[in-house]
Amino acid sequence: MRQVQVNLPGREYTILIGSGLARLPGAKAWNALVAGRRCLLVADSHVEKLYGPAFQEILAAAGAAAVTTAVFPAGEESKTLATFGELCREAARAGLDRKGLAVAVGGGVTGDLTGFLAASWMRGIDFIQVPTTLLAMVDSSVGGKTGVDLPEGKNLVGAFHQPRLVWCELDTLKTLPDREWRCGLAEIVKYGVILDAPLFARLEGHTLATLQAEPETVAEIVARCCEIKAQIVLADERETTGLRAVLNYGHTFGHALETCSGYGRFNHGEAVAIGMGMAADLAAVLGRCPAELPARQDALLRQLGLPVCAETTAEVTPETILELMFRDKKTAGGKLRLILPREIGTVEIMSVEDRGALLRAIGGRTHGNTGESRGADRP
Ligand SMILES: NC(=O)c1ccc[n+]([C@@H]2O[C@H](COP(=O)([O-])OP(=O)(O)OC[C@H]3O[C@@H](n4cnc5c(N)ncnc54)[C@H](O)[C@@H]3O)[C@@H](O)[C@H]2O)c1
Ligand SMILES: [Zn+2]
Repeated sequence: MRQVQVNLPGREYTILIGSGLARLPGAKAWNALVAGRRCLLVADSHVEKLYGPAFQEILAAAGAAAVTTAVFPAGEESKTLATFGELCREAARAGLDRKGLAVAVGGGVTGDLTGFLAASWMRGIDFIQVPTTLLAMVDSSVGGKTGVDLPEGKNLVGAFHQPRLVWCELDTLKTLPDREWRCGLAEIVKYGVILDAPLFARLEGHTLATLQAEPETVAEIVARCCEIKAQIVLADERETTGLRAVLNYGHTFGHALETCSGYGRFNHGEAVAIGMGMAADLAAVLGRCPAELPARQDALLRQLGLPVCAETTAEVTPETILELMFRDKKTAGGKLRLILPREIGTVEIMSVEDRGALLRAIGGRTHGNTGESRGADRP
């Protein structure tokens, strides 16, 4: 089993990474948190079917005073104030008091919703993250950002609230659909580009299938990503110094793409993959990175089965994407602050005002209907 420590003063927590963790000594930390408390187990409809009963048992065996399961329909479409409201009412019906514990079992949607519930319920209760998607293991379950989407944009309402424990049970990845694996891989590529050239190079030796066949490699990669995320969170927990913002590489473009396509067409990782393509193109257009960087990044993303371009529709146009990016919360004083690659393993934060360059970078990655769906090749 691997452990990564997030040493935020007064709010330290451990990330446990392994298989069959309930049987391992790390489970002590879990038992200590759970014993004697009323627990609200939150899962989406897919994950509840797969793992709900197992986790109910695990919580009961750890001595939970009571376990209530709250289920919501799977999908980003559920990451709303309405679902948040439903979960609050579930917490009320479950009799969760200030000592209550929320347990998120699922992907980033479940983690963000449950974390926001835990941040708000009784003005803040403890919560545990049990990420069951690769994306949630390497990214969303660590760092304490919680929240929900609005029709006007992603993650516009939320709070910082750190979990008390993160339990990455790698066995759950066995049921994860390939498309969701790829989403996690997009975030892992992101870590490579922003901070870890050896990680990027290591990924270049893999496809989805080879990774799935090597659980030990996956465990190492998950642990490495958690380490990077923990370091960044430690240095800039609330995204005030700008350091944490590097995690948004590809995300300002990606969020805009997700928003204008209605959150249904691209999942988060796919939008981020395309967004990283746009960011890399922009860096190349502005002369801030080697001209061959976008192609190297594209090659890896494609090898992992990720899209690097989007098809234009009535809603998805370069102009709409740009407009949504300016509406994104990361604009400072009307300027777009973007994370751009300098080279693989190093990024910079840049204020970009050049609409022409932005539109060229976005336009180069959005194409009319070519008969190919996601991931159409660039001309
Ligand atoms: N808080 C943060 O710091 C942060 C960081 C990155 C992303 N996010 C958020 O995370 C969300 C995306 O997370 P996601 O990709 O995990 O999405 P998700 O939670 O919707 O999960 C994706 C799909 O996989 C299914 N699933 C989950 N685990 C499974 C398993 N083990 N086996 C089979 N199916 C399983 C889910 O039911 C769902 O259908 C976005 O809302 C994004 O904004 C947050
Ligand atoms: Zn992300």
